[in-house]
Amino acid sequence: MKRIAVLTSGGDAPGMNAAIRGVVRTGIDYGWEVYGVQHGYAGLISGDFLPLGRRSVGGIIQQGGTILGSARSEEFRTEAGRSRALRELNQAGIEALVVIGGNGSQTGAHELCQMGFPVVGVASTIDNDLFGSDITIGVDTALNIALEAIDRLKVTASSHQRAFLVETMGRKSGYLALMAGIAGGAEAVVIPEVETNPEALAEEIRVAYERGKAHAIIVVAEGATPEADGLAQYFKQNEERLGFELRVTTLGHVQRGGMPVASDRLLATRLAARATKELAAGRYGVLVGQRKGEIVTTPHDEVVSNTKTLDTELMELAQVLAK
Ligand code: F6P
Repeated sequence: MKRIAVLTSGGDAPGMNAAIRGVVRTGIDYGWEVYGVQHGYAGLISGDFLPLGRRSVGGIIQQGGTILGSARSEEFRTEAGRSRALRELNQAGIEALVVIGGNGSQTGAHELCQMGFPVVGVASTIDNDLFGSDITIGVDTALNIALEAIDRLKVTASSHQRAFLVETMGRKSGYLALMAGIAGGAEAVVIPEVETNPEALAEEIRVAYERGKAHAIIVVAEGATPEADGLAQYFKQNEERLGFELRVTTLGHVQRGGMPVASDRLLATRLAARATKELAAGRYGVLVGQRKGEIVTTPHDEVVSNTKTLDTELMELAQVLAK
């Protein structure tokens, strides 16, 4: 092997730069040339390749985002798009690819592999919803940002005896909301994996005030049913009857833009190093992730055909701790 490329795709995640750096420096150590693909799969289709040396990735380990840029490419979802990408890779003499990203990105990696191109994936998404990795790059940083916000909201909520709905990211996964709820000492958590009855939730909050609470923090995952907006509307419409005032804070992309915490830098570096090691050993068609503390690989076809489940028993723990 002489030349490989690395790309970041989908929603950016704090620690992606540490992973790029890990791929570049370990790849060069194997004697390869390493190229960065700009703007994810869109850049693969347009042949947007950038040679990266050891110094090109200096000073980025502590930076959030991705120096390569990221995108969600509709064209790459088509066979024509993927064929164009393959042509560009072949023309540039690139022999293998490392894809740093979440579910959509790993599906793309799998499809490219099925067309005969060697690809290894690196598990990265703040949603932590990728099968094959207990924890993914960016999760811990996003969680810490959510926690900082919750801690601050509690202060102002207590001053006014208010309830706050705090919406976290996590399109289909309640991981961030649930963990932020437990670690942030929230009064309630609403996640997509468990259906929530607004009246029952309101009653829980009312009882919490009766028990002497000075505030109520309800952490809601963005993909929950009902959604944060729906819940807020319901609470506001019934404000007088329920007896508490509500404010809404949507954390949104703030959670994605942070400087990676130590655990994300380390995870990203270890996963990246393992990805190049796999390529050096002639193995591909796998996702590199972490399971039970070990860095492991999972075949891409398993990754894309399975859904990661959330330990919903933790919801009960969150409820007990909230009392
Ligand atoms: O997949 C990561 C994620 O941050 C989700 O939590 C969120 O739903 C989505 O990306 C937002 O995507 P975009 O940045 O394209 O708006």
